[in-house]
Amino acid sequence: MRDSDVDLYTFERLRDEFGPFTPGESPDGLGHAERDLIGSRYREILREITAIVSYQWREHMERSALKGFLFHGGVGVGKTAMGKRLTYELCRRFGDNGMAGRNSDEVVMVLVDGADVARGRYGDTEEQIREIFKYARDGQSGGHHRHDNDPKRRTIILFDDVESLFLTRHSVGAKEWHFSQNSIFFHSIDDLDTAHTAVILTTNRIDLVDEAIVDRFLSYEFSAPPVSVLEEVARDKGKLQRLQESDLQPILNVIRTPGAVKSIREIERMVMRAYVEKLLNVP
Ligand SMILES: Nc1ncnc2c1ncn2[C@@H]1O[C@H](COP(=O)(O)OP(=O)(O)O)[C@@H](O)[C@H]1O
Ligand SMILES: [Mg+2]
Repeated sequence: MRDSDVDLYTFERLRDEFGPFTPGESPDGLGHAERDLIGSRYREILREITAIVSYQWREHMERSALKGFLFHGGVGVGKTAMGKRLTYELCRRFGDNGMAGRNSDEVVMVLVDGADVARGRYGDTEEQIREIFKYARDGQSGGHHRHDNDPKRRTIILFDDVESLFLTRHSVGAKEWHFSQNSIFFHSIDDLDTAHTAVILTTNRIDLVDEAIVDRFLSYEFSAPPVSVLEEVARDKGKLQRLQESDLQPILNVIRTPGAVKSIREIERMVMRAYVEKLLNVP
């Protein structure tokens, strides 16, 4: 597997998404990015998971029982975004921040779409899972020659929307291949070099996830964000589209209707619609 075969998030790609870090550190020890995640609950989760991975990487905890995190909750509430933001934070702490040469100590994230792997989109599912872990361990095959003093690349592997991939053994309709897929997965997970790697799983079907996964990962529930967070997201995304407060008013009204909006993705769509309507109405 090569870098171009995977959905690879490098420091540069994450900087494009979150914007550069502003100089200095916040009191919570985290960096502050220009387009950072909004909401204190997100900040708190980021602080915890950063502390855990940083510890395992810094203290060379190669065989930790804790393999990573399981993010569960509804659609569009920031599970995948949190995985990216964690990686960006780890780039800030461990990586070269884009300043040094490309071969030096570096942090990347590999985003694996659970549904793609389950469908066998890239070939045999089990082989695919094996290859992903091998890639995370060794870097790209046929890549540049590694010298002994070349620091090893550190990797976050994000298995996104895993419900189709790791059905519980008790669920109705669980098929044989889920068992053997699980065993490849568990073998790779139990073998994971936790001093250089961490795995994140996301799902909106926590009820379907295998118990053995729950045992190896620290779970975080992502619930629907509070109104105050949704409002701030609307203003933030609105500002990027140069919308005025008056343009956003209808959206803010919807947000304040109890139970009307359950995800951040819905806010993004509403802001986009308001933007298009505004520009189409300009004479
Ligand atoms: N805390 C947050 N602040 C600002 N934007 C966010 C936040 N959480 C998620 N988003 C944005 O909302 C959208 C949906 O988030 P995503 O991570 O894809 O949700 P999920 O993986 O839970 O389905 C993305 O565009 C993401 O960047
Ligand atoms: Mg997602």
